[in-house]
Amino acid sequence: MDTKTQNLADYRRLIEISRDLASTLDLDTLLYRIVRVAAEIANAEEASILLYDDVARQLHFQVATNMELPNMRGVDVPLEGSIAGWIVTHREPVRIGDVQDDSRYFDGVENATSYATQSILGVPMITKDKIIGVLEVLNKKEGHFTDVDEELLLVLGAQAAVAIDNTRLFQQSDLISEFVHELRTPLASLSTATYLLLRPEISPKQHDQIVNNIHSETLRLSALASSFLDLSRLESGRTHFHYETFSIEKLFNECREIMQTKAAEENIEVEIDMPSDFPSLQADPNKIKQVILNLLSNAIKYNRSNGTVTLEARKEKEQIRLTVKDTGYGIPEEAMPHLFKKFFRVHETESKVAGTGLGLSISKQIVQGHKGSIEVKSKSGKGTSFIIRLPLRSTRD
Ligand SMILES: Nc1ncnc2c1ncn2[C@@H]1O[C@H](COP(=O)(O)OP(=O)(O)OP(=O)(O)O)[C@@H](O)[C@H]1O
Ligand SMILES: [Mg+2]
Repeated sequence: MDTKTQNLADYRRLIEISRDLASTLDLDTLLYRIVRVAAEIANAEEASILLYDDVARQLHFQVATNMELPNMRGVDVPLEGSIAGWIVTHREPVRIGDVQDDSRYFDGVENATSYATQSILGVPMITKDKIIGVLEVLNKKEGHFTDVDEELLLVLGAQAAVAIDNTRLFQQSDLISEFVHELRTPLASLSTATYLLLRPEISPKQHDQIVNNIHSETLRLSALASSFLDLSRLESGRTHFHYETFSIEKLFNECREIMQTKAAEENIEVEIDMPSDFPSLQADPNKIKQVILNLLSNAIKYNRSNGTVTLEARKEKEQIRLTVKDTGYGIPEEAMPHLFKKFFRVHETESKVAGTGLGLSISKQIVQGHKGSIEVKSKSGKGTSFIIRLPLRSTRD
C-alpha cells in the first residue's frame, strides 16, 4: 500500500472509531477501546491514557494496552517534571525520539511497572476548552513517530475527550437522580419525626424513641452521602489506587478487630483460614480493606445469631482468591442478578437491617479497578460466599 492509500485507510478507521466510541457509556470499556486503537494507528508497542484531576492538579494513569501491569493503574504523575504534565499545561502534543534524553521525562511510571519507554508521542485530550487528560503512544515499532501519526492521534484524542466527557455526564446524572430518589425516604421520616416531636401531647418515652429514630436516620444519611461520593469517584475514574505490598493476614486481622463488637452482639464467630506461608499482595491496601470490611459487615449483618463467618485466602497460580463465607439465610435466587446494582437491597431484609445498598457496587468497582473479579454463591438456608480473585502482582516483576 502506498502512503496515500495508507493515510486514507487510517482516516477511514478513525471515522469508524468515532462511531464505535459513541456507542458505549461505560468509562473503562471506552478507554480500553481508545488505547487499543491509538496503538494500532500509530504502530506503537503500547498506548495509555492519563486522566487529569483539576482539583489535585495532577494526572493519574487510568488504562494502558498492556494492563496486566496492575500496579500502573492509579500511579500519580505530577504536572511539573513530566511529559504528560507538560502536555496538559501547554495543551500541545509532544513527540520525542528518546525520552531518556528529555528532562521532562518522569520515571515514576517506569519504576512502578518496569516497562522501558523509548520513543513517545503524546497529545492532549481537550473538549469544551477543558483538558480531560493525555493520550500517549509508546515505542514506535519501526522508525520514528511521524507528522501523520501526530495528526491522527490528535483527532483521536479530541474524539476521545468528547466521549469521556459524555460518559461522565451520563454517569453523574444517572447517579444523582438515583441518589435524590434514595434521599426521599430518610428525609420523609425525619420530617415526620420532627413534626411529632413538636406535638405537646407526646410522652417522654415516645420523645426518646423519636430522637433515637432521628439519630439512626441521620447516621444512614451520612453513610449514604459518603458511599455515594466513593462510588461516583470510582465510576468516573477519579479514584487513585496507591499500590503497596502488604500482608493479607494482617489485613484480615484488622478487619476482624474492627467488626468484633458487631459480631459479638449476635454471638457470631469470625474465623480466618489461610496457609501460613501466604504470599503478600500488591494492591491498594486501604481499598482492599474497604472491600473486605463491606463483605464482612454483610456476612455479619445478614447472618443468624450464633453463626460463623470465615475469611479465607488461597493462592491460585498468579492470582489469589479471597472468600468471605457466612452461615446466614442466603440470598433468594431472584435477587442474585441484581446484587451488585446500586442501591439494591433484598426486599425481605431491607427493613430489618440498616444499609445503603451501595457496599457491593463499591466493592465491585474497586476489585475491577485492580483487574480482579468478584462473584457470589449462595444456598438458601445455608449461607453465602463472596469470592474475590486478584492478580498477585505485576507480571513484569
Ligand atoms: N452475606 C449476605 N447474605 C445475605 N444477603 C446479603 C449478603 N450480602 C449482601 N446481601 C444482600 O445484598 C444487599 C446489598 O448489599 P450491599 O453491601 O451493597 O448493601 P447494604 O449492606 O444493604 O448497605 P451498605 O453496605 O451500604 O451498608 C443487602 O442489602 C442484602 O440484601
Ligand atoms: Mg453492605
